Amino acid sequence: MVEAPLPGREGGEGSTAFPKAALMPVDLSMVEIGEETRIDTGFQEFNRVLGGGTVPGSLILVGGDPGIGKSTILLQISQNFAASGCKVLYISGEESLRQIKLRAMRIGELKGDIRFLSETNLGQIKETIYRDQPQIAVIDSIQTMCCEEVTAAPGSVSQVRESTSLLMQLAKRSGTAVFIVGHVTKEGQVAGPRMLEHMVDTVLYFEGEKNASYRILRAVKNRFGSTNEIGVFEMTEKGLKEVLNPSEYMLEGRPVNASGAVVACSMEGSRPLLLEVQALVSETAFGLPRRTAAGIDYNRVNLLMAVLEKRCRLPMSRLDAYVNIAGGMRLSEPAMDLAVVTAIVSSYRDLPVPADTVLFGEVGLSGEVRSVSLAEHRVREAAKLGFKRCLLPKSNVSRLHVPQGIRCQGIAGVEEAIRFLFDEGKE
Ligand code: TYD
Ligand code: MG
Repeated sequence: MVEAPLPGREGGEGSTAFPKAALMPVDLSMVEIGEETRIDTGFQEFNRVLGGGTVPGSLILVGGDPGIGKSTILLQISQNFAASGCKVLYISGEESLRQIKLRAMRIGELKGDIRFLSETNLGQIKETIYRDQPQIAVIDSIQTMCCEEVTAAPGSVSQVRESTSLLMQLAKRSGTAVFIVGHVTKEGQVAGPRMLEHMVDTVLYFEGEKNASYRILRAVKNRFGSTNEIGVFEMTEKGLKEVLNPSEYMLEGRPVNASGAVVACSMEGSRPLLLEVQALVSETAFGLPRRTAAGIDYNRVNLLMAVLEKRCRLPMSRLDAYVNIAGGMRLSEPAMDLAVVTAIVSSYRDLPVPADTVLFGEVGLSGEVRSVSLAEHRVREAAKLGFKRCLLPKSNVSRLHVPQGIRCQGIAGVEEAIRFLFDEGKE
């Protein structure tokens, strides 16, 4: 596949405006698909985000803040590819071979056919890849690469674009799967990965909090799979380890029977994730209430507080509120609403929600609790981790096969949830 020339780019070499001969369109029934092969990255978490492994000949962009662990994870999957018999070429324009070796030693033993190159000249890199025909190539990072035909400095918009389109052609022609690293940069002269998203097959972002050890790999675009999936990793002394049971990981060390803390179940792609939602509300000291939201949409929190004020007659407009997803996860699913509302009321009344309870459900403007997708997956995850009770939208309950060991309580509205948990829910 060849990228169309970018609009507004000068000197349209390869322009398709006036084709010399008429083309012959084909019937799709004549196209052979063949068996789709995927190359295992050695990490289940990484495979899932890619849609089941690496597609040969694809171009994959891995973006993220500097220092988050992009080089580390790519070196690790390179080692895994090589250990499983693939030919791998790892090219760094940022680090010397010595630096790469130091990192590689930290991560583990090098096995198989893996070669390293410290180089920034893309013309030469291209020749090397055509000559050596690796199945996997890693380019760390696109911002250091340089095409001789382009006069601009490495990292500039034109240089980064040209390098990426060259790598795209290279991947398609050679069948090599190419991973490129792109640093997310502050506004400035250096071109960031956002600009390249339309040019590549797959865009992954590697995210995390600087002070937390886990990292999330998220697909933002994927021509070969879903974009909802996430992979969870933990940064350790010896590189990244995959976290196969993220719910357990996220709930580790949570306070038991503290007011303002509740457990919610969110879906990340096909996988349920249990998380702790924390809220702290207190009287506003001076006039205008202060509100903050971390990990969850600020406007959503304001909306939910307005619902509490109007539908449950709680004096939210006189309260400061701080809402937080513990552990630094970021979520945007409306199914978190019920947990947010409950955490706020729990803090307001200073009454804990029992530690064995999970909640999920979308809250509407009339205070109704609306159904959410994949309720059964969520309930099963909660049961698996030993939770005894689940509050969920009433409309979800009828179609539910309740797993053993957990009781499901259908809730129609916010007021009902509050009454159930704080006024009569005690046993
Ligand atoms: P790196 O992969 O160099 O980040 P990027 O390529 O995204 O800029 O990772 C850098 C950080 O990871 C650095 O702060 C050190 C840390 N790290 C570990 O904690 N354990 C390890 O085994 C490795 C290799 C790095
Ligand atoms: Mg790096």
